[in-house]
Amino acid sequence: MAAPCTVLALESSCDDTAAAVLRRTAGGATEILSSVVHGQAELHAGFGGVVPEIAARAHAETLDHCVEQALEASGLGLDDIDAIAVTAGPGLIGGVVSGVMCAKGLAAATGKPLYGINHLAGHALTPGLTDAVPYPWLMLLVSGGHCQFLLVRGPDDFTRLGGTIDDAPGEAFDKIARLLGLPQPGGPAVEAAAKEGDPARFAFPRPLLDRPGCDMSFSGLKTAVLRTRDALIADQGGLTEQDRHDLCAGFQAAVADVFAEKTRRAMAAYPQVADQTPVICVAGGVAANMMIRFSLETVSKEFGARFIAPPLALCTDNAAMIGYAALEQMALSGPSGMTLAARPRWPLDQTSPAMLGSGKKGAKA
Ligand code: KG4
Ligand code: ZN
Repeated sequence: MAAPCTVLALESSCDDTAAAVLRRTAGGATEILSSVVHGQAELHAGFGGVVPEIAARAHAETLDHCVEQALEASGLGLDDIDAIAVTAGPGLIGGVVSGVMCAKGLAAATGKPLYGINHLAGHALTPGLTDAVPYPWLMLLVSGGHCQFLLVRGPDDFTRLGGTIDDAPGEAFDKIARLLGLPQPGGPAVEAAAKEGDPARFAFPRPLLDRPGCDMSFSGLKTAVLRTRDALIADQGGLTEQDRHDLCAGFQAAVADVFAEKTRRAMAAYPQVADQTPVICVAGGVAANMMIRFSLETVSKEFGARFIAPPLALCTDNAAMIGYAALEQMALSGPSGMTLAARPRWPLDQTSPAMLGSGKKGAKA
């Protein structure tokens, strides 16, 4: 049995400032004692994307309050904490630096060990936190900034099977909403409109399905929606409500089909483990989409796999996942120490080729 451990974790790599306290018992169970997230959506709303300088300043101003709130909600003080964990990349560098500096200050003041954690590892390991599933699992990480298939074999053993070569899917949902005059964030607005629409009215492409492998592309799909919108406006002098609904439904169905087919291909690389049901997981803001969940669930059934979509608060950016990743990785490697550096790019899988493209929320690899 390992010694129990209580970790204070910080996350500030994009537009959410977050802190959390987690406790691992001697028996290995992990409990979230508190998880606080301060979003910055309203600060960036007028700019059509996250402004790195505004994000970094807001993180620097908010992090210590977040830590105080997380400690208070956990009922613990700094003396009760055994380790400090912080996102050290990848992400918007100003925000990552804010978190790393705050965590270094806490580690220096308390003498507790400091662990620098990869943000993508936080997302990728979340099914272990929420559902205590054994390794391995397949993770489809889909948000405004990330899009990749990861085979997760252990706390620090990831294979990236593919990812987007241009836009992240959340970005594409946001752009489609903008094209159609729907509110931001675009994902929920497009999903709501799609409910009233006919997904078959427009024949939108399913990009890269003609190529082997798990890479994805959403830029051409977005352009196809734009062209169809423009043709409708040219013909009719404007868009009807039904046109908007049908465009959203067609776009969403295309994205869901791409995820489903690429998941099937990713499963070809899934390792056989005797007496263990395969596990397919989805995380990131786009995982909120019910049609996408449904199509991934359908694919999971085809493979006799268990499907896991963590609760939304743990799908989107949060510090609990960073604390959990630290608890998982502690046994494999020691603390990072005070030389820990913030990294704008930090691929989880060093062996796969670098990914192209960088989303509005920073590098995707
Ligand atoms: O993970 P997240 O909160 O933030 C980062 O990108 O890091 O993801 C936000 C993205 C946005 O682009 C948003 O439009 C998308 O997730 N999203 C959705 C839905 N809800 C949020 N996309 C599709 N359908 C949804 N229901
Ligand atoms: Zn994230």
